[in-house]
Amino acid sequence: MIDRYAVIGNPVAHSKSPRIHTLFAQQAAQDMRYEAILAPLDGFAATVHAFIADGGRGMNVTVPFKEQAYRIATRCSPRAQAAGAVNTLRFTDKEIFGDNTDGAGLVRDIESNCGFSVAGSCVLLLGAGGAARGCILPLLDCMPMRLVIANRSVDKAAHLAAMLSGQSLKPVACSFVELAGQSFDLVINATSAGLDDATLPLPPGLFAPECLAYEMFYGQDTPFLAQARAAGIRSADGLGMLVEQAAESFLLWRGVRPDTAPVLALLQQQ
Ligand code: ATR
Repeated sequence: MIDRYAVIGNPVAHSKSPRIHTLFAQQAAQDMRYEAILAPLDGFAATVHAFIADGGRGMNVTVPFKEQAYRIATRCSPRAQAAGAVNTLRFTDKEIFGDNTDGAGLVRDIESNCGFSVAGSCVLLLGAGGAARGCILPLLDCMPMRLVIANRSVDKAAHLAAMLSGQSLKPVACSFVELAGQSFDLVINATSAGLDDATLPLPPGLFAPECLAYEMFYGQDTPFLAQARAAGIRSADGLGMLVEQAAESFLLWRGVRPDTAPVLALLQQQ
């Protein structure tokens, strides 16, 4: 029986994961099938268990099920625990293993594809929701000199920073107003403001001259990307992160790291 994998979400029809993983499988000569599965909003666990019973070996998990996937896992990686969310499930006879490859995908895109070295840099993470939580530990692992978390609701930023107080670098939490007078080498937008076409109240001078502005969304021009353009600095959207987090999942499942460059180039063309 062919090894089966899937992305599970609601909605899920828009997902690029089946295309990405099919390209990875061809490239790495892996005999596997990858599909998209729409789960009812109240039927996540049942859909996962039906997939396992049907020979499923692993799943990517997307909105709105990442927290439920964290709860369904019988064992989780430290980075999934830090995120409180799972985007990758691996099924074996013994367990349902949960991992979160979003942060590793973000870091790999920033470092390998954008050519930006996080070590020793001043990093600003905008947002303190699920997307921010998902990437915080891999970002800290890169040893930035400073990591500031700014959020509209400052208590959520403070909560996220406090969760990481055991790390060697302690993130600083603040409001958008408190960003005045500060500047950063890397600014990551992990808020969902772009979805509503909302402009974040970023103070002038926030982007250092060689700054990279990273928008976690992809496929649309957001006000954050426009702010980066207006400041004359370089920017990237989250398409590379999507491909890199997929490669991390593929590695977990198949023990092979695919070459992401041709797949990313193909998606960028489209
Ligand atoms: P996700 O899983 O995409 O991170 P989420 O957990 O709902 O979604 O978090 C959304 C994040 O975007 C939050 O940090 C939110 O700020 P609040 O915690 O203050 O709500 C942020 N956000 C959404 N819209 C925003 C806006 N218009 N301006 C500033 N921050 C915004």
